[in-house]
Amino acid sequence: MVDRQALQQKFLEMFGSPPRLFRAPGRVNLIGEHTDYNDGFVLPMAIDRSTFVAAAPRSDRLVRVCSLDFNERYAFDLDDAERQSQAPWLDYVEGVARSLEACGVTLKGADLLIQSEVPIGGGLSSSAALEISAGLALLSLSEVAIDRVQLAQAGQRAEHDYVGANIGLMDQMAAALAHRGYALFLDCRTLETADIAIDTQTTAVIVCDSNVKHALASSEYNKRREECEIGVAILKKELPQITALRDVRMKDFQRYQEQLPEVIRRRCRHVISENARTLEAAQMLRQHNLAAFGQLMLQSHQSLRDDYEVSSSELDALVEIARQLPGLIGARMTGGGFGGCTVNFVEPFAVEHFCNTLATRYQQVTKRTATLYHIHSGDGAEELKD
Ligand code: GLA
Repeated sequence: MVDRQALQQKFLEMFGSPPRLFRAPGRVNLIGEHTDYNDGFVLPMAIDRSTFVAAAPRSDRLVRVCSLDFNERYAFDLDDAERQSQAPWLDYVEGVARSLEACGVTLKGADLLIQSEVPIGGGLSSSAALEISAGLALLSLSEVAIDRVQLAQAGQRAEHDYVGANIGLMDQMAAALAHRGYALFLDCRTLETADIAIDTQTTAVIVCDSNVKHALASSEYNKRREECEIGVAILKKELPQITALRDVRMKDFQRYQEQLPEVIRRRCRHVISENARTLEAAQMLRQHNLAAFGQLMLQSHQSLRDDYEVSSSELDALVEIARQLPGLIGARMTGGGFGGCTVNFVEPFAVEHFCNTLATRYQQVTKRTATLYHIHSGDGAEELKD
């Protein structure tokens, strides 16, 4: 965990002035996977692990950024239109700064010192935590009023334009807007949100990192997005009013599915069924019907595995093992896929045995080591004031 005082002290030593402190959380998605860029529904939860940014303004337009996690330090000039990609992690910071400026905000230069508790590259959206914490810091130092949705959108544009990942808006919205004690139900078309309580008396949220990351994750991700667009273009011939898979009802899909090539058909079936599952899951969570919620998680995993093909043998093994353990309510892969984590709802009494047995059996089956986290919900981005 990040020692806030030590981070502030380090900033003082490095940059010679006392900083302000900002943070934004990682997220785990409970259900609604690969639906956000199809104008659909998602249900993420911000986690109690954050990326912290100690920050102070400068009188020029230089942004100096140091990461304690990477032990690297870079600088870029906001007035210098020529952007050089200096380091992958810096692209998220520079990307969000330049995206904010591109939409008309004038930022002050700043010194930033960054340290994260969100495991990097582990499927808990360390990238959104970095974009949103750095974006919030830069806006606050520049005394610009902050619209949380615009901040999330700037984070998303950073990924599109600077990182090359054509992601949706889920992770950034969770990092910017979620509340402790709640999952964040989000309509990715209207951007309306609703908080849905997570009852920790009846469920524990266990995240299990397979510790495998697929090398082609980002190109495969972009390919899935294109496949969905192809599906919309074909279905539009029969359903001219649709603009995204969000608009396609299951019964219309079933009627016209033969017109879609086999792979595109399965991609569309996942998105359409996942949207329906997410709406139902949100309802089940509101009604405290965890058994039904858990079943929807398992169905979501199957659909991601068979129709959307973004799972991996390791994630499948984790879900299969989890299903057989006492106290399991539901389990599925979470996030973009091709490796990363599963999310498990587990009855609180069973957590210790569940974690130990899942780790042991995963090791036996895959010869790999899993990392388990008992995750609690956290608040969205904020400035920390003591
Ligand atoms: C990644 C992206 C999100 C979303 C998920 C899949 O986390 O950043 O926008 O598309 O994958 O649901």
